Amino acid sequence: MRILLVGSGGREHALALGLKTDPVVTELHCAPGNPGIAEVATIHPVSITDNDAIVKLAQELDVDLVVIGPEVPLVNGVADLLRVAGFATFGPSKAAAQLEGSKTFAKEVMHDAGVPTAKSVTCSTRAEIERALDGFGTPYVVKDDGLAAGKGVVVTDDRQEALDHALACRRVVIEEFLEGPEISLFGISDGKTVLAMEPAQDFKRAFNGDQGPNTGGMGAYSPLPWAPNDIIERTHREVLAPMIAEMAARGTPFVGLLYVGLSLTDHGLRVIEFNVRFGDPETQVLIPRLVTPLATLLYKAATRDLAGQNLQWRNDSAVTVVLAADGYPAAPKTGGVISSIPAIADTYVFHAGTSSTDASLLSSGGRVLTVTGIGSDLTEARDRAYRAISQIQLEGSFYRTDIALNASVAEKGN
Ligand code: AMP
Ligand code: GLY
Repeated sequence: MRILLVGSGGREHALALGLKTDPVVTELHCAPGNPGIAEVATIHPVSITDNDAIVKLAQELDVDLVVIGPEVPLVNGVADLLRVAGFATFGPSKAAAQLEGSKTFAKEVMHDAGVPTAKSVTCSTRAEIERALDGFGTPYVVKDDGLAAGKGVVVTDDRQEALDHALACRRVVIEEFLEGPEISLFGISDGKTVLAMEPAQDFKRAFNGDQGPNTGGMGAYSPLPWAPNDIIERTHREVLAPMIAEMAARGTPFVGLLYVGLSLTDHGLRVIEFNVRFGDPETQVLIPRLVTPLATLLYKAATRDLAGQNLQWRNDSAVTVVLAADGYPAAPKTGGVISSIPAIADTYVFHAGTSSTDASLLSSGGRVLTVTGIGSDLTEARDRAYRAISQIQLEGSFYRTDIALNASVAEKGN
C-alpha cells in the first residue's frame, strides 16, 4: 500500500512510524513532513493549506490512501477534493470537520444526538455576552466559535478578562464551567462504525502544576490507571456512537478520527470539545501502544469497512514530554541549534517543530520535540522519557517535569 500523510508535527511523526511498521505499507510519503519524518518517509515540500497541490501530489504518487493529520486542511475541504479525485481518504469532509471548525455547530449536533455537554449560549452582541456571563457566573468559560489554533478558550474568574476575550471574538460561545478531571478519548470511524481508542490525558498549561498559559499540549500519558473501568465503553455509548449516527443521519458522515475531550464530572461524562483529527501530543503515547496495524486500520476506515474490527493494545504505559522553545506559547524563538538526540531503548523522539541544514538540526516551532518513554508502568515510562529529554540541549528551551507524576504516584500506591 502506498500512503500519503499530510502534516509536519509530532503527531504526524508518530503516525508515520505507526504506518511504517504495518507490513502492508510499501511506500510512505509525507507532505510537508519534517527532518524526523524524513527518516521514515519520503517528504515533499507541499503546503498543508494548498488543497490543489495536495491532490496533485496524491495523483503523481498514485497512492492508495491519504491520511490527513491537522485540522486546517480538513476544515478547508481537502478530503472532499481527494475523494472526488478517487482517493481513499482518512479525514472528514469539510461539512463534518465543522465539528471542530465551529463550536456552535458541535453544540447543535450534540443536542440533536443527545450527547452530554456543558450548557452554553452563542452570543454576538455585548448585551448577549454580559447576560450570558452573569447567568453562568464564575469561573467564566469563553470560547471563540471558530478555529483559533488552541488560543480560543479563556477560563477565568476575572469578568473583565472574560468580557474582553468575548468582545474580541466575532461569534463567541459562553458556557457553564465543568468541574472534574479531563481526558482525551478518540474514535476511529468509517462513517457508520466507530472504534474507541484507549484514553489519554493531556497537560494543556505551559508550566508545572497546571500554571501559565494554555498551550497545544505539553505532555500526555496513557493508559489512565485512575479512570473508571468502563470509560471506553461509556464514551462509545454516550458520545461516539450517537455522534457518528447523527452525522450520518444529516447526510454528512464522519470518516476519520473524532477526538473527544471529556470532563468526568460528578454528574457523569460531559464533552468539553471535539477535534476532527488525532490529538497532539496524545498520539505520541497512543500510537506506540497500539498493536493493531495502523495502515490497514485507517484504510478500512477510509473505505467504510470497520464493522467487526476491534483494537488491540500493549499492556505497557507511555508518557510523552514536550520540549518547547524559549517564549512558547506567546512568542516562541525559532532557529536554535538542537544538540544530538540520544538513542535510548524504549524511547521515541518525535520531531514537532524542527528543520535542518546540512550541518545541524534547528528548532522551527513552539513545540520542538516530543519525547515518549515506554515502560511496564507509568513510573518506568516517565523515567525513560525524562532521561532522554534531559540529554537534549536547545538554548532557552523548557519542559514540564510533572507530566504523569500524580498518576504514577497513585499507580504505585495501589
Ligand atoms: P479547548 O481549546 O476547547 O480544548 O479548551 C481549552 C481548555 O479549557 C480545556 O482543556 C479545558 O481545560 C478548559 N475548558 C474548556 N471548556 C471548559 C468548561 N466548560 N469547563 C471547564 N473547563 C473548560
Ligand atoms: N492536545 C490537544 C489537541 O490536540 O488539540
